[in-house]
Amino acid sequence: MRVVILFGTEMGTAERAADAIADVLATTHDVAIYDMADFDADDLERDDFHVLVCSTYGSGDLPTTAEPFFDQLDDRLPDLTGLRFAVFGLGDTVYDTTFNRGGEICAEKFAALGAAQVGEHGRHDASGTVRPQDQAREWATRLAIPDLAKA
Ligand SMILES: Cc1cc2nc3c(=O)[nH]c(=O)nc-3n(C[C@H](O)[C@H](O)[C@H](O)COP(=O)(O)O)c2cc1C
Repeated sequence: MRVVILFGTEMGTAERAADAIADVLATTHDVAIYDMADFDADDLERDDFHVLVCSTYGSGDLPTTAEPFFDQLDDRLPDLTGLRFAVFGLGDTVYDTTFNRGGEICAEKFAALGAAQVGEHGRHDASGTVRPQDQAREWATRLAIPDLAKA
């Protein structure tokens, strides 16, 4: 069983956060990490645990690199029942009403397709003082994936 980390980014911050999460989870799990831009929705496996790491752009939108993946989900409407996922979102409180919408859109889309969100929904604030990779690492340490231990 694997942990599959999917990141959506425009400027690389979410990728750095995803790498930090991978470092933590790789100590106890088999981890694969992909840019959402390179991941096909048909490759979602309900036996894998998914970690979605995604920033926010526009007016509370997904990064443009993540849009094709979400367009595939919209077009194909895969049944994700039984798939479990966690979300670490990135945003900036400067964008008051749309703060961290990217991660929330990820959670809403996966849940609408039948998947179940696990753990605390992480929200990094680029206007804060904590580096995204540090917050992501700490978040991953607290993420409980008890029944997917490395074989
Ligand atoms: C043009 C632009 C629009 C943004 N819009 C939002 C937004 O609507 N809501 C939000 O929370 N953050 C917004 N952000 C902040 C980014 O999500 C934040 O800086 C994030 O850390 C960038 O991650 P990335 O480098 O992985 O793309 C925006 C940033 C830029 C440059």
